Amino acid sequence: MSTQTMSHKSGRSKKLEEKAAKRAAKTGAFTAATANKHELYQLSVQNVEAEIDFVDETFQEIRGRDAVTLREDFCGTGNTSAEWVRRRASNRAIGLDIDQPTIDWGLQTHVLELDEDAQSRISLLNRNVLEPGDATGMDIVLAMNFSYWLFKTREELCNYFKAVRASLGEDGVFFLDHYGGSEAMTETRESKKIDDGPGRKFTYVWEQKSYNPITNDMECRIHFKFPDKTRMNDAFVYHWRLWSLVEIRELLSEAGFSEVHVYWEGEDDEGEGSGEYERTLEGEADPAFINYIVAYD
Ligand SMILES: C[S@@+](CC[C@H](N)C(=O)[O-])C[C@H]1O[C@@H](n2cnc3c(N)ncnc32)[C@H](O)[C@@H]1O
Repeated sequence: MSTQTMSHKSGRSKKLEEKAAKRAAKTGAFTAATANKHELYQLSVQNVEAEIDFVDETFQEIRGRDAVTLREDFCGTGNTSAEWVRRRASNRAIGLDIDQPTIDWGLQTHVLELDEDAQSRISLLNRNVLEPGDATGMDIVLAMNFSYWLFKTREELCNYFKAVRASLGEDGVFFLDHYGGSEAMTETRESKKIDDGPGRKFTYVWEQKSYNPITNDMECRIHFKFPDKTRMNDAFVYHWRLWSLVEIRELLSEAGFSEVHVYWEGEDDEGEGSGEYERTLEGEADPAFINYIVAYD
């Protein structure tokens, strides 16, 4: 990713890392020197099955047919596109990203893992989402994991939404995600322990490093910590504008979408997110929430 940086390491932590890497080479365990940041990212923040469930079902509800073509904007490694072509033998996917090393990793992992037929139905292209070229006529365009927040002015975001609208087929549908709540406006760190089986344990750290309430500029970072005390600091760094749902809905309408709907997550018996999203105009003042926005004509 173009926005990613790896922090400069001190001599001491480098030595620790080298030792840990030697140990890990024997056990195959995750450690900072050898773990792949894309793999860690996927294990920490992505749930492509659930995402595609939502997108597939919602398109079917709105249009009364199965979608066939999907474009994943800001596709990174193309993990979601790979899930789309696995879903149905008729499905086709195009992923757009401007970071070749990230695309290459996706081709080597997700695309190569697919069977030959599915491989022929997916392309990951090094292309700016603002200039999608022939990646048009789509049933579905996705902008997930808040990537479109790198557009920081109303004009830039509206132009992107217009470019998406022009890329949709006649009954195409645009899906975005969004996060908000009072915690989004704080400088904070949150950790989550990930356990992906023996030796595949690590801690994901989400840092909201800075937030400027005058401009809504925010800087967020992802770090990873390993059981052997090594760390991968600043594996991913994002410079975003924190957009509100109201602004995004208004800009989608300004870009020409006649239908703009928010899908809000329901709650399970314990008051936790149920993973089921319902179309509504009434959200709750949760300190932190993630939701989907769906726009079409
Ligand atoms: C947060 S990652 C998103 C990864 C993936 N879509 C996901 O859901 O987890 C953002 C990606 O957007 C890409 N990107 C940034 N600006 C872009 C642009 N103008 N056109 C296409 N990709 C862009 C970066 O290279 C990076 O891989």
